[in-house]
Amino acid sequence: MEIVELPCEEHHQILDVHIAGSSYPPFVLSFKNLTYDVKVSTKSGFPFRWKKPNVSSGNTTKSLLRGISGEAKEGETMAILGASGSGKSTLIDALANRISKQSLKGSITLNGEVLDSDVLKVISAYVMQDDLLFPMLTVEETLMFSAEFRLPRSVSKSKKKARVQALIDQLGLRNAAKTVIGDEGHRGVSGGERRRVSIGIDIIHDPILLFLDEPTSGLDSTSAFMVVKVLQRIAESGSVVIMSIHQPSSRILGLIDLLIILSQGRTLYSGSPSNLPQFFSDFGHPIPNNENPSEFALDLIRELEGTSSGTQILFEFNKSWKASSMDDNGGDDTISNRRYTLPLKDAIAKSISRGKLVFGGNGANHSSSVPSFANPFYIELMVLSKRLLTNSRRMPAKFAVRLGTIIVTGIVLATMFWQLDDSPAGAQERLGCISISIATIFFNCITEVPTFIQERYIFMRETAYNAYRRSSYVLARSLTHIPLLFNLSVTLSLITFWTVGLAGGVPGFLFFFVTILASFWAGSSFAAFISGLIPDVFLAFVSGIAIVSYFLFLCGFLVARDRLPKYWLWFHYISLVKYPYEAILQNEFLDPTKCFVLGVQLFDQSALATLPAPVKSELLKSLGRVVGRNITSSTCLTTGKDILKQQGIVELSKWKCVWVTVAWGFFFRILFYLTLLFGSKNKRK
Ligand SMILES: Nc1ncnc2c1ncn2[C@@H]1O[C@H](COP(=O)(O)OP(=O)(O)OP(=O)(O)O)[C@@H](O)[C@H]1O
Ligand SMILES: [Mg+2]
Repeated sequence: MEIVELPCEEHHQILDVHIAGSSYPPFVLSFKNLTYDVKVSTKSGFPFRWKKPNVSSGNTTKSLLRGISGEAKEGETMAILGASGSGKSTLIDALANRISKQSLKGSITLNGEVLDSDVLKVISAYVMQDDLLFPMLTVEETLMFSAEFRLPRSVSKSKKKARVQALIDQLGLRNAAKTVIGDEGHRGVSGGERRRVSIGIDIIHDPILLFLDEPTSGLDSTSAFMVVKVLQRIAESGSVVIMSIHQPSSRILGLIDLLIILSQGRTLYSGSPSNLPQFFSDFGHPIPNNENPSEFALDLIRELEGTSSGTQILFEFNKSWKASSMDDNGGDDTISNRRYTLPLKDAIAKSISRGKLVFGGNGANHSSSVPSFANPFYIELMVLSKRLLTNSRRMPAKFAVRLGTIIVTGIVLATMFWQLDDSPAGAQERLGCISISIATIFFNCITEVPTFIQERYIFMRETAYNAYRRSSYVLARSLTHIPLLFNLSVTLSLITFWTVGLAGGVPGFLFFFVTILASFWAGSSFAAFISGLIPDVFLAFVSGIAIVSYFLFLCGFLVARDRLPKYWLWFHYISLVKYPYEAILQNEFLDPTKCFVLGVQLFDQSALATLPAPVKSELLKSLGRVVGRNITSSTCLTTGKDILKQQGIVELSKWKCVWVTVAWGFFFRILFYLTLLFGSKNKRK
């Protein structure tokens, strides 16, 4: 089916969430008998415990959801209420398709059809309990970036801006629009404002199904009321809004159409909040006047949970009460009104033509004529790069610290290895200086791990609902990084190359710089991969540092390759330090005019070093006679090539070493992409 390209005025309408008119056949989201059990290990929770298959001892099953049913239609807000741990977030996760199909029993349908997860991704949004936002962007910028991701190219920039402004007003963020989000280190917007920004970025495209986990947590009652009011308006504009909520005030209850009260994963009440007084009075516990019905209900449930029979009695009562009210009404109102709905495909198309989802006529269709991504790859790439650059430009301290460590390391190396000569000791020091410089680069790159991990959560939230492609992110991350790596490489090369007296003049310097840049590239890719693989900052950091140390141990500097134990050879070859180290060594030692051990220096590192020069000369002469060669004090005994041979550097040319380093960088970026692809499923097992 074709998506109709919208005329301009209609587009404008899209940009206002507040679209009245419910004459279209509504969407009906219904869920039946949702049941979700997890295995809980009763043994110690050490994360790397070896698990034998088919061993059930130590595992018990815990039911997080037990036969939950309900139905919400377009225009309605449904709230899930319950004490902490009652299963609210779990139910929201289940409805938002964030629990794997194998584990979740029961059915969830939209207009009677089981939802394809690709379609769900596009027509729904999920607002998490945590606010994961870029700290250094302002409220307005954050929303604008979201608009650029989620609204298609066919919506003009000015309309995107108008949509953002409308949203800022709707969310009551006008006064905070120009304030940065902030984090622990930077003052920013208030908690309530952050919450509303989080909601804003997920509803920018006006989704049909909106799930929110505790949208009001941490807010004062006025802000909470404002947030729910916004949600009610969104519902009225033609969405189904389902949220979990802790303790709604009476005013908030007044905005809600349907209520489900949970306790230990079971429904103790479901229906309109206005029926709560009747329900509890029929149960024999009338709600006293002036008491907040939701507080009363939760208190009563807590009391029941403390008794020996638990909440069973209320659970049973709810079932019979529902059945009797169905008889009174001549059938369940929810079912009778909603049985006849448009087929899903048509309903979505109709909704789109009315302005929902703000999708124009983007070619790529699938089953229900909704493209998976709002924008093509290159737009995503541009927007992502712009956002990353803006955010990092506003955190100069981070870059300054990295640059600072590189400058200090450079100065320490420069002074330690000041103007090395070509003596045997000098040659040895060159090896040390080069291997340590390269290892420093890799250690420096590991400091990127926390940033990567922090961003990863934002990335997961955004990609869960197809804000952009994972590949665009990986590419944008890599591209925006290159200028930074370039600066670090220039700094390190300039500080060390001339001061240490490395060989090769200007061409030598340029090659040195290129190798350093390649190492930064490989190191940064490696850090990205580690943070994709191990999403815990501490563990990732420690593992990263340890692995780089092993790279250094086995790169060939401490023990040459042919002297390494055979079983370590594989690690020698994957050591990222090995390749740039060998490249720079060749740059250093391939000059045939240089000599690193003259005849007179032969005894330098032995007990004979202190002998007078004439004696050494005599010794050399007799040595020459034995080997049948004329050896004088000035005969060259070890050339640079000999040193390379001793180090086992005979396999790859210097440029090949650079290319291998660059290739490692690409390889780890691809692995990083794969860790994001497979490691960020956003689903519970
Ligand atoms: N993977 C799991 N293994 C064991 N128990 C779990 C798991 N996930 C959740 N639970 C338990 O399931 C129950 C419901 O959790 P859920 O997060 O849905 O509660 P909630 O109602 O959202 O609570 P809150 O109001 O505190 O957010 C809790 O008791 C929680 O400890
Ligand atoms: Mg929760």
